[in-house]
Amino acid sequence: MNLTDPSLLCPKALIGGEWIARPDVEVINPATQRSIGAVPDCTHAETEAAITAAHEAMSAWKTTDHATRADLLLAWHDLMLDHKADLAQILSAEQGKPLAEAEGEIAYGASFVRWFAEEARRINGKVIPVPGKKLMALKEPVGVAAIITPWNFPNAMITRKVAPALAAGCSVVIKPSDLTPFSAIALGVLAQRAGIPAGVINIVTGLPTEIGAALTQSPIVRKLSFTGSTRVGALLAEQSAPTLKRLSLELGGNAPFVVFDDADLEAAVEGAMVSKFRNGGQTCVCANRILVQSGIYDQFIDKLTARVDALTVGEGQAGVDIGPMINAAALDKINSHISDALSKGATRVTKKRDLAPQFADPIVLRDANLDMQLASEETFGPVAPVFRFETEEEALEIANGTPFGLAAYFYTTDMARAFRFGEALEFGLVGLNTGAVSNAEAPFGGVKFSGLGREGAQEGIEEYLSTKAFHMGGL
Ligand code: SIN
Repeated sequence: MNLTDPSLLCPKALIGGEWIARPDVEVINPATQRSIGAVPDCTHAETEAAITAAHEAMSAWKTTDHATRADLLLAWHDLMLDHKADLAQILSAEQGKPLAEAEGEIAYGASFVRWFAEEARRINGKVIPVPGKKLMALKEPVGVAAIITPWNFPNAMITRKVAPALAAGCSVVIKPSDLTPFSAIALGVLAQRAGIPAGVINIVTGLPTEIGAALTQSPIVRKLSFTGSTRVGALLAEQSAPTLKRLSLELGGNAPFVVFDDADLEAAVEGAMVSKFRNGGQTCVCANRILVQSGIYDQFIDKLTARVDALTVGEGQAGVDIGPMINAAALDKINSHISDALSKGATRVTKKRDLAPQFADPIVLRDANLDMQLASEETFGPVAPVFRFETEEEALEIANGTPFGLAAYFYTTDMARAFRFGEALEFGLVGLNTGAVSNAEAPFGGVKFSGLGREGAQEGIEEYLSTKAFHMGGL
């Protein structure tokens, strides 16, 4: 790495404004398989210290006026953009995504900070008319928030949670993925520089079990926000039940991407590339099942194949389209989905690349069917299985035939179908004639097994607020 500001690559946890260094957990660059550095494996006691620091800092933070909180968030936002190139290098090194995409994530991450800085000044309660007294509904910060974030967006999943928390007046304890802690820590360095007071943002690095237990068991932590798998989300919900925390859970998906015969074919192929291959297929909103109506099936396959064959794969820092997969477990799942599909009648139509084992070859599979593992499980890699369908009813049944409900996409030029189909999709995010559904202004989140709550948008800040009914008699 060639950082303009090397102090942003900081191997330390942050508790109550103090930096703690201990080289316990090695962080590996998934492309080179070499170590980037080692961070502390925070203990139960250290996590409790972070919770206490957050609690103490919150009493002043929640009474800081909204405009000041907004200004501090804007200063943090500006620093992120000033240091975009360094932050992107750190992100790309620990996560693997190509440098240009990593810069895109820093801008995406910063956009949440700006959005919620602006929202901080619009936290309004209401006055409710009742006979004989005055009644107000006041909005108050919910309390100390635990923020548990994944490796696939090491920057943006933090800002999407932390910015609304801070805007609302909450303080936070962040537990970043042990695979990608350096992006989180760099955000902590910049938050300090922005003037966000000590203890408002705490970062506990390390392995999940002990830290997760301390966060979920603490009665001081009133809110937990998690992005990751449905299995871990359900476990955190169970662990949080005895202390009745508010939960936001952004969990797994199994996104359908439906292309009707009447679609603009070029646009549909472009959308499939955007949705399927973003972050090498490692996002919760990536198209997992591409359903194409039979009239354009072969043309779609030909065009998609040409686009996928043109993708470059390699170390993210080298300006490629697709970087390494995050680890061996991810690659095992991808390879098992591909072999299962091939054994059940799918055909590979894209070329084979000769790649080192940490990289996955982007692949289009034609003649996918519903018996294949990749029809019911999220592959989380650059595998594009293309299923054929005949009717709109069949497409809807397949699209909704999953316990997950995060994102769905469809392409049609028929306006009546656009409304009918879009409304019938059982998903929290629907893209019509677009493969991108992520931005700060949009309420982001799922239904069914894809989770609870919404991030971004006006809804995002409500997750960190509670409502107090203030009844005033004798006035
Ligand atoms: C995710 O994969 O969890 C988030 C994707 C996004 O924000 O678009």
